[in-house]
Amino acid sequence: MSLQGKHIVLGVTGGIAAYKSCVLASRLRKAGAVVHVIMTEHATRFVAPLTFETLTNQPVVSDLFARPSTWEVEHIALAKAADLFVIAPATANILAKMACGIADDMLSTTVLDTRAPVLAAPAMNTNMWTAEATQRNVETLRARGVHFVGPEGGFLACGDEGPGRMSEPETIFAAIKDLLREKRDLTGLRVLVTAGGTRERLDPVRYLGNESSGKMGFALAEAARARGAQVQLICGMTTAAEPAGIPIRRVDATRDLYEAMTELAPQADIVIQAAAPADYRFETEYPQKLKKQEGAPLTLTLVENPDVAAAVGRLKQPGQTLVGFAAETQALAENAAKKLDRKNLDLIVANDVTQPGAGFGVDTNIVTLITRDRSDQLPLLSKAEVAERILDRVMELRGQGE
Ligand code: CTP
Repeated sequence: MSLQGKHIVLGVTGGIAAYKSCVLASRLRKAGAVVHVIMTEHATRFVAPLTFETLTNQPVVSDLFARPSTWEVEHIALAKAADLFVIAPATANILAKMACGIADDMLSTTVLDTRAPVLAAPAMNTNMWTAEATQRNVETLRARGVHFVGPEGGFLACGDEGPGRMSEPETIFAAIKDLLREKRDLTGLRVLVTAGGTRERLDPVRYLGNESSGKMGFALAEAARARGAQVQLICGMTTAAEPAGIPIRRVDATRDLYEAMTELAPQADIVIQAAAPADYRFETEYPQKLKKQEGAPLTLTLVENPDVAAAVGRLKQPGQTLVGFAAETQALAENAAKKLDRKNLDLIVANDVTQPGAGFGVDTNIVTLITRDRSDQLPLLSKAEVAERILDRVMELRGQGE
């Protein structure tokens, strides 16, 4: 996708990651965007305004009272011109100012002024990021619709290791493209996605698990976010890379998933259950490692777990859309249709996990979308594309599709 003609205001605050924003500014310009850089005074200590001016071919603004380069009040002009407002790096300080509505320099004033979507790429020391004050500010900003990308974990310039590193320019660029997509049909909707497999403990070192990688759930969460939704993930065990910028609640056993879902699902507009919860758990969970009984067989009893999707189905809210998955190895359509009814779902995504290119661990999937009135068989597609098709069908069911 080209960003031709899009006006992006790039706010740069005072952190060492400011050098990465030069790469971002250049990437945005190459994609056709008009990039307006606003720097805080501290940012100008890390990177010279001239660097950004050269990369963007636009004047860099930093001083609120400097003689404006246009006759309009500059911060208002930029706030209005913006299709998107990006703050990268976003220090703890700018996040705190934004959360409180403080407008005491060019950047904080313009961001308070703008009605454009705002994307922040935090960068700071781990302790500053995990500090309760920062986390609360982030929560406040998220609740107001500010988008976040990162921070990532890793080695920080201060020598610490942990979350706080600004996302790479390419990751921020991808988040920008998401936000500028034309198809923002999920804006304002709360989407809850489950992903991964649950883990049923036998003893402190052993468990019963499954092959779910989390890829399909993550693809759904990313697609929903790209289309404007406010997304929450609940994940069991996953091996796929976590999507950046989506809040994740981790759960272990099916019963934990059950608790999290019965608490969170009623508040969501769309619930998509791509997780693979274990249907059974061990009757006894041993507090100590189970010892081998030489020569004697070991018999373990499994007891049934709650069916999470069925419980969410019983709690179904008016106007809510419930989507489930059905992993089948035989009689796909028939078994999936039964699950649709049993779990009070609106849509079931059925996949025959015996087919090459479908199911666990791979990047592709072959699915049939089954609703009460019809069944659409999709070809082999990437999980990202399958996610888009599922959301298209969901929006159609909600009466908002094309
Ligand atoms: N599911 C659930 N709780 C369970 C088992 C499954 O919420 N204890 C959900 C899955 O997240 C999925 C759907 O139900 O969205 C179907 O999962 P699947 O394993 O295919 O179906 P089961 O109901 O477990 O039926 P069976 O094992 O007999 O195929």
